[in-house]
Amino acid sequence: MADTLADTLVAMQTAPLSTTDLPVTQQVRIELAERSYDILIGSQLLGRPETYAGLPKASTALIVSNTTVAPLYAAQLQAALQTHYGKVLLVSLPDGEVYKDWPTLQLIFDALLENSCDRKTVLFALGGGVVGDMTGFAAASYMRGVPFVQIPTTLLAQVDSSVGGKTAINHPLGKNMIGAFYQPQRVICDLDVLATLPPRELSAGLAEIIKYGPIADMDFLDWIEAHIDDLRAGDPTALAHAVKRSCEIKAFVVGQDEREAGLRAILNFGHTFGHAIESGMGYGAWLHGEGVGCGMVMAAELSQRLGLIDVALVARLRRLVERAGLPTVGPTLDAADNAGRYMALMQVDKKAEAGAIKFVVIDRPGSAAVRGAPEALVRAVIDACCAPV
Ligand code: NAD
Ligand code: GLY
Repeated sequence: MADTLADTLVAMQTAPLSTTDLPVTQQVRIELAERSYDILIGSQLLGRPETYAGLPKASTALIVSNTTVAPLYAAQLQAALQTHYGKVLLVSLPDGEVYKDWPTLQLIFDALLENSCDRKTVLFALGGGVVGDMTGFAAASYMRGVPFVQIPTTLLAQVDSSVGGKTAINHPLGKNMIGAFYQPQRVICDLDVLATLPPRELSAGLAEIIKYGPIADMDFLDWIEAHIDDLRAGDPTALAHAVKRSCEIKAFVVGQDEREAGLRAILNFGHTFGHAIESGMGYGAWLHGEGVGCGMVMAAELSQRLGLIDVALVARLRRLVERAGLPTVGPTLDAADNAGRYMALMQVDKKAEAGAIKFVVIDRPGSAAVRGAPEALVRAVIDACCAPV
């Protein structure tokens, strides 16, 4: 399986863009039979009516955004959508991971019902992963399913969360525990919107880009290492290549395994430790990408202690995560029994089976697998990777 994945991804690879290629709209197709769709990547996409041509027809569109993103970009989107829809509504949610919950989800249903929206209404998610995940879940469940479009405005959402149809809200006992697989009609990655993204959020997005290297494409890891400073500086050419290559890899993996029966789980590299950090610290204290960045270091350390990879690859990943501006040392979640607290939190993971925790490990450079690990070894990894109390 891994050989096929690596070989196929090499074959699919396209040359990085040169500056003269911009602004060009690039297209990555995600092949899922009747649920297939395109990811558009480029500049000046958001405000162009043509970007939305060919989407399902309806009398009403509802833009779902939040109190940070709506003031920046909703008017542009609203104007472009008016060419296609008679009525274009907006619901603006409170901003933050802490609002990825039932009461906030309800605000989307309130807007739909108060405006008599029918089952053809198209939802447009304008925001980061939180808005995208919640809008997708609302679209999956309103009248048992209405179409939706992802317009990701964070780097993290452009390279990961908007693609592949995972939608969810959090539960106080676990992250992304309530949700559905539900594919969007289109994903529109306008690189221009990244200009207003705070540097900390840009770094969080880099975590999900780095992830694709060790699990699937070591050439991409080399490229990221060579361009990490350009990416952090918001260089449009570097960002365009990083978004496109990430989407190609994710589209391929999701195309093979839409509902995570097997292969797709490799996309959760770093997430088992990362989700424990996020929920253990309280949602929003650590950004999702920060948890994933640090979690990848911990998962690499685990892979090394399982005898799968050498210390040089762990050091390489740790250095890159650090250069991306992300934490590499795990927080203390419980001064009395830190490893125990991590273990308890990691049991509330969708990969866990009958309470046994499963980890995504690097089984060799550019290839990942899902497996269990002896508790003593996992505890030793946590002790080694977390700040001393
Ligand atoms: P986010 O949605 O909270 O956005 C980060 C911050 O940036 C927010 O304050 C937001 O308002 C702001 N923002 C967004 N776009 C902006 C812009 N262009 N300019 C200025 N500010 C902007 O966080 P995120 O990192 O985008 O997403 C994290 C979420 O995504 C988590 O809930 C995570 O679980 C989820 N996720 C889902 C998947 C999936 O497959 N569905 C994959 C990865 C992550
Ligand atoms: N972010 C992991 C996945 O989409 O499967």
